[in-house]
Formats: sequence, structure tokens, C-alpha cells
Amino acid sequence: MSTNKIQSQAQMQMQLQQRDWVALEQQYYQGTFKRQPITLVRGQGTRVWDSNGKEYLDMVAGIAVNVLGHCHPAVVEAVQQQVTQLVHVSNLYYNTRQIELAELLGIQSNGMRSFFSNSGAEANEGAIKLARKFGRMHRHGAFEIISMENSFHGRTLATTAATGQASYQATWAPIPDGFKQVPFNDLQALKDATSAKTVAVLVEAVQGEGGIWPGNPEFIRGLRAWCDEQNLVLIGDEIQAGMGRTGKFFSWENYGIRPDIVTLAKGLAGGVPIGAMLTDKRTDLFTPGDHGTTFGGNPIACAAGIATITTIQELHLLENASKVGDYWKSKLDALCAKYDFIDSPRGIGLMRAVHVSHGLAPVIVAQALEQGLLLNSVAPDTLRMIPPLVLSEKDVDEATFLLDNTLAAVSALPAVQEARS
Ligand SMILES: Cc1ncc(COP(=O)(O)O)c(C=O)c1O
Repeated sequence: MSTNKIQSQAQMQMQLQQRDWVALEQQYYQGTFKRQPITLVRGQGTRVWDSNGKEYLDMVAGIAVNVLGHCHPAVVEAVQQQVTQLVHVSNLYYNTRQIELAELLGIQSNGMRSFFSNSGAEANEGAIKLARKFGRMHRHGAFEIISMENSFHGRTLATTAATGQASYQATWAPIPDGFKQVPFNDLQALKDATSAKTVAVLVEAVQGEGGIWPGNPEFIRGLRAWCDEQNLVLIGDEIQAGMGRTGKFFSWENYGIRPDIVTLAKGLAGGVPIGAMLTDKRTDLFTPGDHGTTFGGNPIACAAGIATITTIQELHLLENASKVGDYWKSKLDALCAKYDFIDSPRGIGLMRAVHVSHGLAPVIVAQALEQGLLLNSVAPDTLRMIPPLVLSEKDVDEATFLLDNTLAAVSALPAVQEARS
């Protein structure tokens, strides 16, 4: 690195350290997030750095967003190039990037047509509206959507109503009508809950926020068969499990089925905000005026999406997610055998979790930070790992070493010793 570059980096570091980011946040930002006590300022590949210059191995990836890692050259170049050419145009006009990204998704999904939004919740909102239109046109006005207990579909009012976790709903009553939940992996419960009002079933084939629970193959295939038999719409929420995370582009490919409507977001543009709602022909019912968005399908987000999908293909990242995911699984199995307060490793590809006893998951996350490892606890008893798909076996070796050190430190804590006795 040139002397000038080193000097300017040192200067930037000093400027970053001069401000108290935590205090400033408290003063100027609403208190919606329970944050870890670090301020991240830079990322490269599987690494991020905080405002003090400390490096972390990132096993969170912006919660399954940075599928190519941080600042992948393909995404950086695509955004840089696009930002000098065309930043935004209204959806009143055709835009080449939007159409090209839809074409790539059409090829991946074997012919589905896309609608782009800005987030996952918005993509699900679009899917809900589309399913209700199907109900009006083809099921005598049926409108009810059945989703799964322990699911997560977003934080807008309708997607909160679809989310099968009471804690996300309680404060916002009355939440929108027309949603019902049944236990995940219980086909009979779904059949029993189906009525003339039912129009659709909304499911994550692998539950993410709920703690990384892959659906049983019989359940997922049974869902498809039930929807076919009853003329219901099957909506696959691929927002967390899609984009190659499970070793397949869409997680439902692991089950040999295909939903009628599919939602994507998170990893779709490698870190640039985007959502997508894809539909098969049977449910392709929106006509002009039914739905819309100002920013959705924006040229920058779509350029980043094109770069992301192309790079996933060029670098064979689906295969990498399977291979490195299996390797990570073997390491997690060994750590679970070594430490008595973690068990039940589960997941698929690079979407993994372990159960943690004594509510220790947040303690492990905090200790891991000390070690230079980013982990996530979705609940006090669940440690989740959803790293970039470019993760290598060498990264896994390092993550294993850091996690082992973390668990040893947690194991020695007086509170843990006490909980054990
Ligand atoms: C499965 C699933 N659906 C929907 C969402 C909501 O996406 P967003 O936060 O982009 O609105 C998430 C976010 O975690 C998710 O994991």
C-alpha cells in the first residue's frame, strides 16, 4: 500500500474514533434496534472492520444479505457504472436493468415473471395482494392466507399478521384480518384449517428468523399437492433461504416442488436494497394500476442484482454453499459434542443454527465479538449463522477456532458454572 493511502486511512480512522457513535445514535436515531456495541465502517469479502480498526469474521452477512461477501468487485463495478449512467427513472418508462434482472430470474425460475420492490416485507405484501386477486377471480372471493407458526414474513401490518409469532403482533392490534397460522410441518393441521375462505398458503421452506428449521420433505410436498387439489395458491417466501443459501438457487428446489408465487429480497442485489415477487402463469393476474412502487426496480438495485446472480453462477456459489456448509456442519457437530451447553445443530447449506441452553446465546454472541467473530442469536436459546456464500473452508477453520475460544470463555463464566451445577 502506498504511503499516501496508509496516511489517509490513518486519518480516517482518527476521525471515526473522535465521535461517540453510540451516544449520537441515542440522540438522533429511534430506539428500534437492540444493537451489538460495535460500529462497522468497512467490509471486504468475509471480513468487516469497526471504527477502532478491529477486524471481524462475519458469519451474519447483514442477516443473509451479503451473499457475495462485502464490497465484491462485481457489485461495486456494477453500481459505480450504473450510478454514472442512470440512477433513477419512474416505472412510467421501460428500464433495461429492470428487464435484464427479471430475465435472469425468469431463467432461474423456469419462466416466472417478476415485480420488484425495495424490501422483503413489500415483496410479501405484493404476494398477498396477488393471492387475494386470485381469490376474487378464481375462488369465489376467498381471501384468507394460512401461514406457519414460528414463521417470519416482515414488519408491515399485513406481513406482521402473516408472521406466526405472537410477539410481533401483540402491540399493533387490530392487525389486518384474513390470516391464520398452523403448526409448521403439520399437514393435517393445514388441511383442517382450510375452508372456503382460504385462498393461499404462505411458507418458508426453511424457516429463518424462527431459528433455521428446514421443512420436512413430506410436509412441503404435501403442501404442494394440497394446494393443487384445492385450487389454492402456494406462496414460497424465499427472502432468507433463497439466492443459493441452501445450495440451490431457491430453497424449494431441495424438495422438488415449485410454488406459484415466490418472494425474494435480502441477498438478491448483494447488499443493495431490493425485493422481488415472482409469479407463475396461473397467478400472473396483476394488470396496470393493481400494484406499483416508486423505487422498486430502480436501475442501481437491478444492476447490483444482475451482478450478484451472474457472479453466483460464475463462482459456482451454489456448490460452494453446499460443500462449505457441510464442512461447517461437521465443525458444529464437533463443537456440540465438546460443550455441554450447545446441541441440536441443524440447517442446510450456509444456513445453520444450534440450540443453546440456559439462555446463553446472547452471551455467546457478545463473547464472540471479543474474539473477532460475528454471530447472531435469534432467541436466547438459538445461535444462528448465515455467512456470505463465498465463505471458504479456510474461513470455516478460522470461525471454528474463534467459536471454540468463545465457547471455552463462556464455559468458564461463573454464571454458567452456577447454571450447570
Ligand atoms: C423469511 C423472511 N421474510 C420476510 C422478511 C422481511 O424482509 P425485510 O426485512 O426486507 O422487509 C424477512 C426478514 O428477515 C425474512 O427472513
